[in-house]
Amino acid sequence: MSKRVAIFISGGGSNMLALVRSMTGDHPARPCLVLSNDPEAGGLARAAELGIPTVAVDHRPFGGDRAAFEAALAPHLAAARPDIIALAGFMRVLTAGFVKRFEGRMLNIHPSLLPKYPRLHTHARALAAGDTEAGCSVHVVTPELDDGPILGQARVPILPGDTPETLAARVLKQEHILYPAVLRRFAAGDRRPVLLPG
Ligand code: GRF
Repeated sequence: MSKRVAIFISGGGSNMLALVRSMTGDHPARPCLVLSNDPEAGGLARAAELGIPTVAVDHRPFGGDRAAFEAALAPHLAAARPDIIALAGFMRVLTAGFVKRFEGRMLNIHPSLLPKYPRLHTHARALAAGDTEAGCSVHVVTPELDDGPILGQARVPILPGDTPETLAARVLKQEHILYPAVLRRFAAGDRRPVLLPG
């Protein structure tokens, strides 16, 4: 019985697309829902084109009441019955209560080599620090932001003249390889970390 995967997005959904496109054939998981906190997220239309059920729950009417926003997600998640939630460019912080309900079953991709540079502006910070490499990490989501067990990492070189934009583009290419590889192992119950380059 394949695992049901809900993917949370906030924007273009390039990571979501990479995940959806990977879940075919003998892959142990299939997408069951693409959910966004932004009704204008471009990824919603891309998911719908692929026949994936989508839902948008605008977080703005809830102001800073994160629990109320998450309560509005509940009926959609109850209907989709995900075994796994993959946060993919999802830009809302989830409450500890929500994370606990999916403890051990929720993944996130973060554009840095965690534990370095949790939170935002990761590429600018790596450049400012004079790092020679950067990358991305997939981790299990825990109540502490960008802090859970690492399931995979991909490293890229920082090149002379790099800007946050050129570095982000190089890292994003690796995100689209790393996240599907990690999801496949995770859905199969294999917890060996994926480390790229191999
Ligand atoms: C990516 O940089 C990813 O690392 C971060 O969100 C950004 C946009 O992702 N989590 P996507 O194109 O919407 O998947």
